Amino acid sequence: MNPIIANDAAILQAVDLLKAGALVAFPTETVYGLGADASNPDAVRLIFAAKGRPVNHPLIVHIASIASLDAWALSVPDTARQLAAHFWPGPLAIILKKRPEVPLEVTGGQDTVGLRMPDHPVALQLLQAFGGGVAAPSANRFCRISPTLASHVQEELGDAVDMILDGGACQVGVESTIIDLSGDQPILLRPGYITREQIETVLQCQLIVAADAQQADVSEIRAPGMMAIHYAPMTPALLCSTANLSASVADLIKQGKKLGLLTSQTDWVNNSALTAVIAMPIEADAYAQNLYSSLRDLDRLNLDMILVEQPPQAEKWRAINDRLAKATSVYSNVLG
Ligand code: TXA
Ligand code: MG
Repeated sequence: MNPIIANDAAILQAVDLLKAGALVAFPTETVYGLGADASNPDAVRLIFAAKGRPVNHPLIVHIASIASLDAWALSVPDTARQLAAHFWPGPLAIILKKRPEVPLEVTGGQDTVGLRMPDHPVALQLLQAFGGGVAAPSANRFCRISPTLASHVQEELGDAVDMILDGGACQVGVESTIIDLSGDQPILLRPGYITREQIETVLQCQLIVAADAQQADVSEIRAPGMMAIHYAPMTPALLCSTANLSASVADLIKQGKKLGLLTSQTDWVNNSALTAVIAMPIEADAYAQNLYSSLRDLDRLNLDMILVEQPPQAEKWRAINDRLAKATSVYSNVLG
């Protein structure tokens, strides 16, 4: 399926397709989503088939306004209203107890539903014109890298999607922060552009961070984005500390490896021993924006290995480090 520039006519066509139970991929500020009418279980089933995703992995429902929270959630706690007021439209998904009429196909059989109002003009125009909720996971095959360009969606899903709306490159570049407000205490299920500190400042309380605690077991089931292997290129990828980078590169080259490198140090760019070097931004936001397309670019080159220089550990890098840990999880720690 060729992407179509998301003008007014294309968006109206997309609305008709959604109403007819078809799949429409669309841009959001985080990554491209694979959308279906969230109130239509048959349409939602097509999402799982197209992605090859297990049916118990819940989907986020995208909505056009804060007021629509009440149409999907059984009750909306003050905390959810506060966060929505601060961060919506934006890269924050909120998990709440679902209303009975929300199809179990959307929620993976759970009694909670993920909700998000995305901050992208095309997504918002589509949601407003459609009028209902659009269930949309990232528009990639299960466990693979999320798409940040319309062409990535085409590569990933081919004709399994009925329309791809092209809204250019996603600005944030990594998936939304997910906070679970369905229980007694707020739990951060997935780090993203909106940080734990930002949320804690608004809520005036401390968050439980799922990945840090025993909660990890729970969240693996509840938020499969937390699974160990995820967001992965096809090429084996390894994280490497800055201190060990030169020695590791030398060692791998000596072994005859065809090597690609993702680094923030520009002096690697002209190193001809490496097959490909991508110099990454030193700012976290710009790094996140480029991360997935850079991994995809390296993944196309038939490399033996992709080496990724470990970014800083500061809080604003948390989402990036989370995704990189997963992208490299099969091989990580090999290089220290
Ligand atoms: O930025 C994003 O959130 C993108 C764009 C398209 O909006 N969407 C996205 O969807 O990343 P997906 O399906 O790839 O990841 C959604 C995550 C999954 O890990 C899922 O398990 C979790 O959200 N999730 C959805 N509903 C949930 C629920 N009721 N309880 C717990 N986790 C939930
Ligand atoms: Mg995903």
